[in-house]
Amino acid sequence: QPVYLSDYQPPAYRVTHTELTFDLDPAATRVKARLLMERHPEADANAPLVLNGEHLKLISLAIDATPVDASAYELDDEGLRIAQVPERFVLESEVEIAPQENTALEGLYQSNGMYCTQCEAEGFRRITFYPDRPDVMATFKVTVIGDQQQEPILLANGNPIERGELEGGRHFVTWEDPHPKPCYLFALVAGNLHSVEDHFTTMSGRDVTLQIWVEKDNLDKTEHAMASLKRAMEWDEQAYGREYDLDLFMIVAVNDFNMGAMENKGLNIFNSAAVLTHPQTATDAAFQNVEGIVAHEYFHNWSGNRVTCRDWFQLSLKEGFTVFRDQCFSADTNSAPVKRIQDVSFFRTAQFAEDAGPTAHPIRPDHFIEITNFYTLTIYEKGAEVVRMLRNLVGEESFRRGSDLYFERFDGQAVTIEDFVGCMAEASGEDFSQFMRWYSQAGTPDIDAHGEYDYVQGEYHLTLRQRTPATPGQPDKLPLHIPVRMGLVGTKSGQDLTLTLNGEKLGKDAVIHLRDDEQTFVFTDVAEAPVPSLLREFSAPVKLHYPYSREDLAFLLTHDSDGFNRWDAGQRLALLALDDLIAAHRNGVEKVMDSRVVDAFRALLSGPMSDKAVLAEMLTLPSEAYIAEQQPIVDVDAIHAAREFVRQSLAVALRDEFMAIYEANVTEEAYAPTPEQIAQRSLKNVALSYLMSIEDEQGLALCESQFAADHNMTDVRQALTLLVHSDRDDLASPALKAFGEKWAHDPLVMDQWFTVQVSRPQPDVLERVKYLMQHPAFSLKNPNRVRALVGAFAQNRVNFHRLDGQGYQLLADVVIELNRLNPEIAARLITPLTRWQRFDETRQALMRSELERIKQQPLSSNVYEVVEKALA
Ligand code: ARG
Ligand code: ZN
Repeated sequence: QPVYLSDYQPPAYRVTHTELTFDLDPAATRVKARLLMERHPEADANAPLVLNGEHLKLISLAIDATPVDASAYELDDEGLRIAQVPERFVLESEVEIAPQENTALEGLYQSNGMYCTQCEAEGFRRITFYPDRPDVMATFKVTVIGDQQQEPILLANGNPIERGELEGGRHFVTWEDPHPKPCYLFALVAGNLHSVEDHFTTMSGRDVTLQIWVEKDNLDKTEHAMASLKRAMEWDEQAYGREYDLDLFMIVAVNDFNMGAMENKGLNIFNSAAVLTHPQTATDAAFQNVEGIVAHEYFHNWSGNRVTCRDWFQLSLKEGFTVFRDQCFSADTNSAPVKRIQDVSFFRTAQFAEDAGPTAHPIRPDHFIEITNFYTLTIYEKGAEVVRMLRNLVGEESFRRGSDLYFERFDGQAVTIEDFVGCMAEASGEDFSQFMRWYSQAGTPDIDAHGEYDYVQGEYHLTLRQRTPATPGQPDKLPLHIPVRMGLVGTKSGQDLTLTLNGEKLGKDAVIHLRDDEQTFVFTDVAEAPVPSLLREFSAPVKLHYPYSREDLAFLLTHDSDGFNRWDAGQRLALLALDDLIAAHRNGVEKVMDSRVVDAFRALLSGPMSDKAVLAEMLTLPSEAYIAEQQPIVDVDAIHAAREFVRQSLAVALRDEFMAIYEANVTEEAYAPTPEQIAQRSLKNVALSYLMSIEDEQGLALCESQFAADHNMTDVRQALTLLVHSDRDDLASPALKAFGEKWAHDPLVMDQWFTVQVSRPQPDVLERVKYLMQHPAFSLKNPNRVRALVGAFAQNRVNFHRLDGQGYQLLADVVIELNRLNPEIAARLITPLTRWQRFDETRQALMRSELERIKQQPLSSNVYEVVEKALA
């Protein structure tokens, strides 16, 4: 059943032009396809024509206007096979599909009565018979026929070229997309939609019409997405020289969507959560998320659409590169160090866990059963880290020359990761043969670093040892080419020292290349004893171990010139203290707070106020999930207790400082998602969370009035969360009730209402989840709601991992039910259970038995693949 990369064969037949006509009906949509096809020059003249097709009712089939006799083809539930076809021909087919029954949300489906599509990766085969593979690229002409009342708006890719009225209250629009594309980029939308419109003038002076299509009630939530789109279009021109290539660019918001968004040519379809914002309904984090996703999908127009993937094993070619591009865009638009801190902090928590678990896979997997299971943190985020390493290895200028070359040489083609890296090699003269292992080896490399200062010689000897742990199917690993950005911070001067390596002066901040299992770097002319600052800006996706003392870390926290490493020193310092407290908790010993952490925090709070956004990050303790990542066996309760103890100790010791920070950052200014305001709000809200951790009387009053003031959703949501997560149910209940009533009409806000309740640490959460699953507003058919309630519960560490196993049971029950409705979401929801190896024996047994129970059901290939790996 798995597909292998090594089995890749070019298609025997390609489609040069595709014409589709959709006659929309919820239960019986008719799809007519007219495909201009030709045999590949190198293919065997007797090669059969194989077309994918699933859940399609075949009505008619003809080649060159002659009906194909039933004896001439084979039809099964995966597609259609015609034994003999001419060298060039026109294939015409008509099928019937039922969008209203499509709960998998792949192919053509209905969301809130409106029609929309999701074809990546293999959804187009649920629309018509077609060679559903990205290396078949055709121009498309699409006619959509709908009801004038129900579907006044009919959209598809490209430009509208004709429209008209038909009998029976129906009408049609015909769209033409002149750019050849694979079918996964096809899109259709039809419904009662409203748009806001704007314009962008490209660098060559062309006018592009920009439209965002939404339900009427959401017209006031599009401003930020539109502004983000225009910024992204301009940024891509400046940073990559990429210009938009159609006269029209459309974004549509839909409520039921499996992922964030989709880059369909000229017609991006978005999860409404990834596009709609309003100060009263969306948090700062949501605003920034929307900005990033709008940019991501827009950037795909070049990195993905004009240059696409040869096959789905190359998925990271477009996703890793495009994530890297959107990360750089957001860094340029907001606070660059904060963007990096947030991305890395998420990456080290979630991608490291994936890389260490049973579903670990390389950035370019060599086989898969279900490609939708591979839209992962490894393919996306680790893929982006690898592109970032390439840029750091070749430098910014060569990187730009390399990307220019890539876009130029492969425009209109479906290519591979080698093609991309090859352009970088050609533009820079570097050799990336060892570097390519990053794409084929799974697992996170561990780097053990060890340094020694030789006072007599004035030398610093840095030894780096790398080892990548075994992952499923890959017992032995080869050494990787790892760029380590670093500095040596003088302990006397507090300054970066000049780095001299092998007689060459490298400057104060340099990238050294680790290629062997073990390498020693000897820095000469080192005038004073240094503390090494390693892996600055997280220059490689590795786990770096260095035996820093707490004094070293406190020193780096204040002296490192690299903002990222300053933050990381604080995290490491907190982790050391947390380690002691976790041990104390387990041994039943009284917990004592490390005064060095308190001093470090005091220094941060009273020091010169630099970047407020960075400060807010530095004041935030490592999450329970990240702490868990550092432990050999995860002790859920000890981690929670230790972290709460640190939070409360800091709050007690620094209560007045936090209060002062809060007061200094309250503003009456009208809400704007600007970096300055966002920084202020984060700092203020971090301070409030410390005050609330000790239920400080004045803090409680501030929290209540922040909630009541209703200034913007960032502040309201934070106040609500802090109230609901406190022990003051007398204050929490009325707040929750008021919030739920006020926002009952807005699904995106209600998602937050669900999440806030099921993420609280109190032990009543399981019952609350069960109760909320009966709430009229809950539905398994809406992925956002499932994530907001069930997904969020599974992230609630103390409650999901209850020792009676009821948390696991609940998740398994939902997975089993969802497996029938939406296999993609069901498969994703299992993730927390797949991490069973990280827990104590009791929990391991409980988690495994739920996985076994799921495995006994009749399963979709999506869920099957994940469960089978998890139990292997
Ligand atoms: N290409 C889209 C994006 O990253 C994601 C599509 C995911 N599709 C899916 N069936 N999971 O922007
Ligand atoms: Zn993408």
